[in-house]
Amino acid sequence: MKIFLDTANIDEIKTAKKWGLLSGLTTNPSIIAKTNIDFKSIATELCELVSPFPVSLEVVARDAEGMIAQARVLSKLSHNVVVKLPTNPEGLAALNVLKEEGIETNLTLIFSTSQAVLAASAGATYVSPFIGRLEDRGYDGLGMTRDLMTIFEKYKFTTEIIAASIRDPHQAIDVCKAGAHIITMPFAVLEKMLLNTMTDTDLDRFLNDWEKVPGKDVAFIEGSLDAGV
Ligand code: E4P
Repeated sequence: MKIFLDTANIDEIKTAKKWGLLSGLTTNPSIIAKTNIDFKSIATELCELVSPFPVSLEVVARDAEGMIAQARVLSKLSHNVVVKLPTNPEGLAALNVLKEEGIETNLTLIFSTSQAVLAASAGATYVSPFIGRLEDRGYDGLGMTRDLMTIFEKYKFTTEIIAASIRDPHQAIDVCKAGAHIITMPFAVLEKMLLNTMTDTDLDRFLNDWEKVPGKDVAFIEGSLDAGV
């Protein structure tokens, strides 16, 4: 299971990298808009920071021709760009051309099992079911993830499933249990997955007890624990 961040915030990306927890990045036009930074500058910085891992950047055209033209421009930005296409008739038509050019794709805005199956059959590199947005609207996003895993395994699709639009740690763990290849999440969810107040309070207990240990003041001076000292 790989963890991607769904953000364009440089500090968040640096922190996840520092934790050794970043295997890729996804963005969308709303995420990019939040940065309020010139598109070329932010896209270049994101690709450099996340390299060699993939960075999904989304096209903003409605027709296949426009998507193809934008995808070609985006793919020249960096070796690790993955082009995000909407999962609709125009997006699939664009995918059909781009895959022949060796451009990697992430078929996004997936709200049904059938959309994901078609995108994988058509040769998408990744598919992104929007689990959180489905669950927000009362649909069974987790059941959909399970169905997708069954179908993808049965047909040995090489397309990877990115469980996207993750709202909280419970949802993240549920899509793990379902077997999603990748989870993309906001930094806040990643942080919540890591932090636990019991870890903090029990760490305090250990450190308080350490104060009672004889020889504690010299224990960690360089060389003090070497044999024969
Ligand atoms: C996926 O690639 C999308 O960017 C994303 O996960 C959307 O999530 P949201 O529902 O939190 O906007």
